[in-house]
Amino acid sequence: MKTILVTGGLGFIGSHTVVELQNIGFNVIIIDDLSNSKIRVLDSITEITGKKPTFHKIDLRNKETVKSFFDTNSIDGIIHFAAFKAVGESVQNPLDYYENNIGSLVYLLQEMRDRKIDNFIFSSSCTVYGQADELPITEKAPIKPAESPYGNTKQIGEEIIKDTCKANGLNAIALRYFNPIGAHDSVKIGELPLGVPQNLIPYVTQTAAGIREQLSVFGDDYDTPDGTAIRDYIHVVDLAKAHISALQRLLNKENKNNFECFNVGTGTGTSVLEIIQAFENATTQKLNYKIVERREGDITSAYADTTIANKELNWKTEKTLEEALKSAWEWQENQK
Ligand code: UD1
Repeated sequence: MKTILVTGGLGFIGSHTVVELQNIGFNVIIIDDLSNSKIRVLDSITEITGKKPTFHKIDLRNKETVKSFFDTNSIDGIIHFAAFKAVGESVQNPLDYYENNIGSLVYLLQEMRDRKIDNFIFSSSCTVYGQADELPITEKAPIKPAESPYGNTKQIGEEIIKDTCKANGLNAIALRYFNPIGAHDSVKIGELPLGVPQNLIPYVTQTAAGIREQLSVFGDDYDTPDGTAIRDYIHVVDLAKAHISALQRLLNKENKNNFECFNVGTGTGTSVLEIIQAFENATTQKLNYKIVERREGDITSAYADTTIANKELNWKTEKTLEEALKSAWEWQENQK
């Protein structure tokens, strides 16, 4: 049985990935510093899978602690989620973002190099493409200057991994996520935003639940059919499964280069107004919303060309937008 280290394994995408890993028999060790997650997620994963993953509360910025973890654990692959992810906060505190997101990555890669551990999966983001010139976005689209320190940590992260693969023979895959939403079918794990949600779907569900008074739709003067911005919303369980496919590609040595990047989205673009409509249809809730000014830094449209990911990872999305929105709502209702 292979042992996989999942950093940030109690977070939104991390916890769903741990469930999928355990469901197909991997032995999972989670490292999480609980800075943006709750320890009770460990029990939820245990309830869903019938198996408690090993857990270590470790801050990956602590190089000595990271070293001693690897002294006592034998690892066959790493899926690295642990990172700060709030765009606005990264603009306020760039150094915190560089220290955490880049520092942790470098320490992990140093341990992998020194101990000859292979197989690394990195959480990247479609934010590396900025406003792409052509839609849908392929992996060959140019990387645009980052809009925020957060986005920059994803770009720099990919560069660091690429250099390490070249110099030290590491095999790695960066998954460029589009917009992950939804919750596990069991409704035992889901997204737990801290404070006021910045992302659309948690704001939608909290508005429907009466926690927020009104959803603000940021701009209706974009160059899109209904004037609102378009994104590619992917069910988090489909996204989690893409990690399993990527990991198996590395473990089975099926990768074509020692550093590869794949888009992980559905391939379908959906506008903010279409999301509101789809949410109302999927849940029979009525959403209170108003159109306001654009949000600074937002792009008009981003959705994935998934041809390469579908073929190379032998993976495709299975869930619909309606299922994703329904599960997000059930998760919200379960928080009472
Ligand atoms: C954001 C980040 C992106 C990050 C991703 C992680 C920015 C500029 N980008 O993506 O780097 O990888 O989250 O999940 O923050 N919207 C509203 N009202 C709201 C919230 C959002 O209309 O209250 C709109 C936004 O303008 C956007 C769409 O909904 O058009 C999706 O927004 P969001 O969920 O924040 O994701 P992104 O901005 O695509």
